[in-house]
Amino acid sequence: MRIGVLTGGGDCPGLNAVIRSVVRTASSHYGSEVVGFRDGWRGLLEDRTTPLDIAAVDGLLTRGGTTLGSARVAPELLHTGLDRMKDVLAAHRVDALIPIGGEGTLTAAHLLSEAGVPVVGIPKTIDNDIDGTDLTFGFDTAVSIATEMIDRLHTTAESHQRVLLVEVMGRHAGWIALHAGLASGAHVTLVPEEPFDVDEVCRLVSQRFARGDSHVIGVVAEGAVPKAGMELRDGGVDEYGHRRFTGVAQQLGAELERRTGKEVRTTVLGHVQRGGTPTSFDRVLATRFGLHATIAAHESEFGQMVALRGTDIELVPLKTAVARLKTVTPERLAETHAFTG
Ligand code: F6P
Repeated sequence: MRIGVLTGGGDCPGLNAVIRSVVRTASSHYGSEVVGFRDGWRGLLEDRTTPLDIAAVDGLLTRGGTTLGSARVAPELLHTGLDRMKDVLAAHRVDALIPIGGEGTLTAAHLLSEAGVPVVGIPKTIDNDIDGTDLTFGFDTAVSIATEMIDRLHTTAESHQRVLLVEVMGRHAGWIALHAGLASGAHVTLVPEEPFDVDEVCRLVSQRFARGDSHVIGVVAEGAVPKAGMELRDGGVDEYGHRRFTGVAQQLGAELERRTGKEVRTTVLGHVQRGGTPTSFDRVLATRFGLHATIAAHESEFGQMVALRGTDIELVPLKTAVARLKTVTPERLAETHAFTG
């Protein structure tokens, strides 16, 4: 069998571990070959490949990023490029395609699968917002990095009796903010799922200082939005239809400083959350995903995605996985609120 692999969307710690796992499983267990498409769907559209054998994946387990490269592709290009992608796959005698990616990549995988291409998807994203799987790899690494950074901000904030706002990634889902906030003892956690009231945030800040607390740490997901008290600058949308962020934490910080009279500093963690070596948890999850996706491809279990359910790896239909995003539930928010304020 010949397997095609590509990594799409934003990169994520653990991608290289998956590639290694697919190649090793395909080669050692089945004597199959693997071809990598460069830069996600773009490489498939432009017929740019790289052979992947055991030697090519040596040392990849611990490396961040993706050796195949990644890119975002406008959804229209995928629709209009369907036939082209099928031709390229046929030219490379690919019997099964394993796309590794988040919502956009898996939606495209579903499109290809509906068009008759044998596909087994692998979910990845630091945002952890793919439905159908309990977790995606990359999330644990991002939360660990954010937690360490917030731990560090506690000490400088308390030394200066400041409010420190930390903006973390999370476009539609606040999982990173929720977990990093809970793990680091943040006093305020703001997520996209629950629009915040600026008056209420000011009240919390003033209340904490009034009762003698030394500082306030607020974790703000980049996609958090106010429901009252301020208006965010509008950044419009990018070529992929994503909202362009204008720095919610910075804008909230200015408002807090003006209204509470407290000094506020803002730290935007940005891509540091996606860089570097994956945690051991993510290495294991990525390796298991790669193994089970390769087994599924050899057993012709197409149109599906590998998923973590409890402690097991299962297959779920791509159609269900991409039907909606997995956002933070009110119950999970309530747990966090028990420790904030
Ligand atoms: O989807 C993963 C993600 O890291 C989001 O959390 C973030 O909003 C986005 O990618 C950033 O994308 P880019 O790397 O294109 O700036």
